[in-house]
Amino acid sequence: MRIIFLGPPGAGKGTQAKLIVKDFHIRQLSTGDLLRENRRQETELGKEAQGFMDAGNLVPDDVILRMVAEEFRKPELDPGYILDGFPRTCPQADGLDQILKDSAIKLDHVLVLEVPDSELVRRLTARRSCPKCGHIYNLVFNPPEQEGICDYDGSELIHRSDDTEATVKNRLEVYQKQTLPLIEHYNKQGLIRHIDGMGNVQDIYQRIKAALT
Ligand code: AP5
Repeated sequence: MRIIFLGPPGAGKGTQAKLIVKDFHIRQLSTGDLLRENRRQETELGKEAQGFMDAGNLVPDDVILRMVAEEFRKPELDPGYILDGFPRTCPQADGLDQILKDSAIKLDHVLVLEVPDSELVRRLTARRSCPKCGHIYNLVFNPPEQEGICDYDGSELIHRSDDTEATVKNRLEVYQKQTLPLIEHYNKQGLIRHIDGMGNVQDIYQRIKAALT
């Protein structure tokens, strides 16, 4: 199965993608995670992306498309994938269409996770994540057992540098302007499935499962 996950920052794409991956035996490809990994390793790409990410702006399309094209060459994606955070602009969607066309592959679904802005700000400012296993916590809704420590591997949790209130507001504006038009792009392909992203994580996951099967 090949899925695109659209939705504003904080909608729960990463949280839900991890459940989908387990159940459907596919891979998660998160451009945000790939960029953060490049930053941690201080690669040229990571250095190039840093300023854009910290300001809550999008990294330029050519950088993203190069990075994603590299990932698509890997056999790990052959069983299927969920694209989390990509594409995010019309040129990225066109680039993906071309990659898929070249390998005669079709997408199955484009999920749009919908959550009101006020809830997104609340979720993001309280997010913490594990830099090692990637588990996502929330200080209000889903805190770790021991403050600041990952339940699964004992790593110190991090607060993403782009999860401040001011940056989150910019990220929401960027989503409205640059990513929302993609709904029309994929509507034309008959792939869009709207999912209500409010409620508890398991209830939302059941809605997603129903849309995928
Ligand atoms: P990226 O990492 O993709 O971030 P994002 O899209 O802004 O999404 P988030 O990871 O913030 O949120 P999410 O929807 O995954 O929510 P989560 O599950 O964590 O991108 C970061 C930056 O990288 C971009 O700003 C840009 O600079 C750059 N970038 C990345 N891709 C790019 C691209 N393609 N082109 C250009 N630039 C790119 O949940 C959030 C919080 O809510 C957590 O605390 C979680 O525990 C909690 N939560 C989840 N579900 C629920 C629920 N049901 N109820 C209550 N709390 C919940």
